[in-house]
Amino acid sequence: MPASVPSMRRIAVLVSGSGTNLVALLEAIAADPAFGGEVVVVVSDQPTAGGLEQARRRDLPVAAVPLADHPDRAAWEVALTATVATHAPDVVVLAGFMRVLSERFLRNWPDRVLNTHPSLLPAFRGAHAVRDALAYGVKVTGATVHLVDEQVDNGPIVAQTCVPVAPDDTEASLHTRIKAVEHELLPACVKLLCRDRLRIEGRTVHVLPEELP
Ligand code: GAR
Repeated sequence: MPASVPSMRRIAVLVSGSGTNLVALLEAIAADPAFGGEVVVVVSDQPTAGGLEQARRRDLPVAAVPLADHPDRAAWEVALTATVATHAPDVVVLAGFMRVLSERFLRNWPDRVLNTHPSLLPAFRGAHAVRDALAYGVKVTGATVHLVDEQVDNGPIVAQTCVPVAPDDTEASLHTRIKAVEHELLPACVKLLCRDRLRIEGRTVHVLPEELP
């Protein structure tokens, strides 16, 4: 491993849904000895999330922190933060995590929380990006991986890939093609963060060249 990568970064992955992006990340890490990171825990707000089951099948530590188990959002976020922090991650990846995180969580991992979103941000923020893009009638949408700040789907953009909309697309068919793109884009961006190759300047994320071994 190059001298510029001091150690394997510890990665926490947060999921709310089926976890196909989690699986893509795990497969990318397994296939690449130079990835520079390892998933140390998978956490969900949904105890029945498919992503948790995917992690259990691979004997990864998992935790569920449901909002309903806490008196309010603040208490839930304190519990979520504590659960994630227990595993001492260097990097946090939101892989289909459908809750908004505030400064209370984010200050623990400054510029170290990545999110994947199924649109070309800043278009179609929010929980229904694919449906909203179809309803708007766009001809091209896509996937965005960005650093997370306190505003929804707002932080500096690391990478984006376009996905053309087909005339007969449904929300499901379009989302399937966007996810296929995310499955490449998210692991690539997590690897860049793990290998300390992202420099943030205002809203612009610079990707540093790979240092020679
Ligand atoms: C992904 O398409 C991700 O971009 C989206 O949830 C899906 C999760 O799929 N996230 C958001 O919409 C966040 N605003 P997965 O559970 O199969 O990885």
